[in-house]
This record gives sequence, C-alpha cells and structure tokens, in this order.
Amino acid sequence: MDIRFQCNGPSRWKADVMVVLFCKGERLPDIAPCVDAAAPWLAIAPALRDARGVRDELTMLHGHPELDIPRVLAVGLGPRENVDVNAVRKALGAALRRCRAAGLESVLIPEPMLATLPGGRERLVEEAVYASLLGLYRFRSLKKPDPEENKDPEWLAVGFEGDFVPDGGQAAARRGERAAQAVALARTLANTPANLLSPADLADKARTLAAERGLACTVLEEEDLREQGMNCLLAVGQGSARPPRLVVLEHAPAGHEQEKPLILVGKGITFDSGGISLKPAANMHAMKCDMTGAAIVLSVLAAVAEEQTPRRIIGIMTCADNMPDGRATRPGDVVTAANGDSVEIQNTDAEGRLALCDALAYAQKQWTPAAIVDIATLTGACAVALGSEVAGLFCDDDALRERLQASATLGGEALWPLPLWKGYKENLKSEVADIYHVGPREGGAIHAALFLQHFIQDGVRWAHLDIAGVDWASKAGPLTVVGGTAFGARTLLELARGGV
Ligand code: BES
Ligand code: MN
Ligand code: ZN
Repeated sequence: MDIRFQCNGPSRWKADVMVVLFCKGERLPDIAPCVDAAAPWLAIAPALRDARGVRDELTMLHGHPELDIPRVLAVGLGPRENVDVNAVRKALGAALRRCRAAGLESVLIPEPMLATLPGGRERLVEEAVYASLLGLYRFRSLKKPDPEENKDPEWLAVGFEGDFVPDGGQAAARRGERAAQAVALARTLANTPANLLSPADLADKARTLAAERGLACTVLEEEDLREQGMNCLLAVGQGSARPPRLVVLEHAPAGHEQEKPLILVGKGITFDSGGISLKPAANMHAMKCDMTGAAIVLSVLAAVAEEQTPRRIIGIMTCADNMPDGRATRPGDVVTAANGDSVEIQNTDAEGRLALCDALAYAQKQWTPAAIVDIATLTGACAVALGSEVAGLFCDDDALRERLQASATLGGEALWPLPLWKGYKENLKSEVADIYHVGPREGGAIHAALFLQHFIQDGVRWAHLDIAGVDWASKAGPLTVVGGTAFGARTLLELARGGV
C-alpha cells in the first residue's frame, strides 16, 4: 500500500473512505472541523446513531457514492481518559483490515483528527501509518491467489488541513512506513519455512539487501569460521547438511566511519530441532522462527541504511541449522569458543547461546563497541516467566537498559528487566571445561543470559533480549496474524534511530 498526502483543505480530500477515530460519548461530526468539512453528509447519515464510540466498534457510514468522500469508517476508542497511542495503533490496524474486507482501494486518515488524540501530532502520524501497514500484513506468498480474498487498498493518504503538506508530517509518515516495512520483512523471513531458508539463503538475502541499500556485508563461511575459532557456532551447525554462516552488516555513513559502533547481534537458527537432544514433536514446526533475532538485525540495518541514520551501526547474524545426524554434536562434547575458552556442551537444544557466544567474542575482537545488544529466541523459561506480551531484558548498564525500555514503549512493545544474578554463575562451572553451557532448569532464562555474559569483557556495555514467548503469535491480534511477530524489531529500530 502506497503512502500519500493530501492538502488544500478537507473539502478537496478524496478517497473511497475516510477513517475517523472517536471516543465514547462523542459526536462524530464534531471530532474536528475537518471531518465535517470533508464529509458534510455525515451529520445526517442514518447509521450515525449506531456509532457509540465503544472500543473495538467499527461502523461504516455511507454518503452518496459520487461524493469525493463517499464513506466514513467510524472507529470507537472507548472512554477518552483511557486512550493512549497503543489504542490508536490497535484501532487503525483493525480499521485498515475492515477497509480491505470491504474491497476499498483508497483510504484517508485526517491529520487534524489525530491531533485531537493524546500522543503528539507528528508521533501520531508516524504511528497511524505504522499501524495501518502492520494491520494489513499477511504471509501469503506460498499460497495460490484466493479469488475470495481482497487485495490491500492501493493507497493510504494522510489528509492535512493547510495549503501544503508540512515537512514534519511527511517525515513522520515516512518513518512509520519504514518501521512497518522493517517489521514486515522480519516477519516474512521468520514465517518462511526452514526448507526454503537455510543459513546460506539467509546470508544471500542479507547480501542482496545490503547491495540494494548500500550496507557493507561480509559473509563468513565454514572455512572463515574455523579460522576465527568460532567452534561453538560450527558445533551447532555440524549435524546439518546446510552449513552455518556468520553475516556482518555495516552502516557507516560519511563522517561516522571511525565512530564506536552500536552492535546488534541476532540469533539465526534457521531450524531448531534440538539436535541430538531432540525436541518433542508437538510444536516443533514453530522452530522455523528460531532465526527471528537475525531477521530483526537484518531488517533494522536495512532500515537505518535507507533513512541514513547518522551513526555507525553493525549487525551480526549467527546463522545455523540445529539438526541431529551422525556428525552432530553430542551432549558432553567440549569445544573451544572464539575467545579461547573451552565449553562443555550439556544439551544440544541449548544451541542459541552457543551460536551467540562466538559472535559476541568476535564483535569485541573486531571493534570497540559503543554498546552491544543481542536479540534471541533463547529460552522456553523466559516464555514461561513472562508470557506472550513482554520480552525479557538482561542488562546491568542502567542507561542502556532505560534507553531500551523507552525505545520499546515508543514502538508499542514491552521489555521487562530480569536479573543477571551473580550467585547463579556457580551453576555454570564444569568439571572438564572452562564453562558449562546449561544451568539448572529453574532460572533457565537467567542461566542462558549469564552464559552469554561470560563472553562480555569488563566495561563493555551489553544488553540481552530474550524474545522466546513473544516471537510467535498463536492467535491473531489487530497488528498481528498467526505466526512470526518480529517482536523487538521496532524497539531496536528506535534504539538505532537514537530518538530516546
Ligand atoms: N529456540 C529455543 C527456545 C524457544 C522455546 C524459543 C520456545 C521459542 C519458543 C531454544 O534453543 C531452546 O531450545 N532452549 C532450551 C534450553 C534448554 C535446553 C536449556 C529450552 O528453553 O528448553
Ligand atoms: Mn534449542
Ligand atoms: Zn533455539
């Protein structure tokens, strides 16, 4: 769906439908003077009395079909005192889906109507475009076209009241558009089944996108990984016929080449069968999403390259397939990580921390990071602790932790702090190696985070996001369909943009 702009006064606006959000007990034509000016027929529309403004209520009102604005979709927000940016996002996601279901080709959102809601004028333009696009997201490239299914509207216009489109409003809309594109790309990669996306395929996607957007891209293949001593990542991939890859993406705009980079590291397990410590069959198919972290890193780097974010950012994707095989890693094997420490592998299903530890060590060898943030579908324990709406955040640096939480809030995501509990480090002691890679089941998310922290040198600012539990939606919501959610993509994009 194309994002466009209209101005010259509401009586010149033109679209198949105008979407108007309003609160409980309010009179629709009175929301903003522009609403009445764009659709003067609204005040006498027969269905007006049905629209009460309660939450989740969608009412399609019709004027004469020949009019410039022949329909108004009235969307209830509930009582005004409860309305926040999240409510606006949800309402617009649902609204755009309704427009598609009605087969409409063009939609207009009046900016002066958004200005009556809390959140800030430009922010709401950004979020309106973001939510409209995400509400329409679906993964259907592997299905035959369904004649029953409508196409997305061709365009969405933001309607401005004045004689011209303000620069700030236009920039805000573009920010929302790029954020939605980043999330959609990460979702599509996450939803792509493992047979169609190997570590090498993921690296190829990164290479192609990097070339398009002007990012530097280096792919380390098996030989290179061996040279770098990344034996943990190699151990994860050695049971698969599809060998691992480590992808490094760099955004270094002119004048920022020498800056300390923000480094984003994403877990990219293209399929997690558990390896020799095989997972139960029931939900194994969802493990095609175990590369969501890497997909997010790729989409964030692509977005910052496109909008030329004025800072240096490096993205690392640790790609491997975790499969059982005659050559697969066995529980009890000992391998040497990229920092020189020997690691006793306890359970081959705890592969994410192995793939990540080499990448973390490599990042600190190659660069002096401003900060490192890793994102991973790491532990079922985190999903058990926090459920499906909030991700785990491990970070001992107060400023970085607060910036991450603020970035999440800005984009409608949520991160909750969990402790890097020092006392539990004992549990990662091995009889035979420098470190044991799994602690007890209790506190499983913390033990995984402590294992990663072992590879972070003193003084390096680092945060770890555990998105197991939030990366997959088992039921549809206004901004998600069943499948990969790419939760965390918007947060890391906001962190990279540096707005908070
Ligand atoms: N990819 C899984 C974690 C996961 C579970 C993600 C559910 C999304 C939903 C990870 O590799 C894993 O298998 N972790 C194990 C670790 C255990 C063996 C210490 C787990 O959480 O069970
Ligand atoms: Mn696993
Ligand atoms: Zn995994």
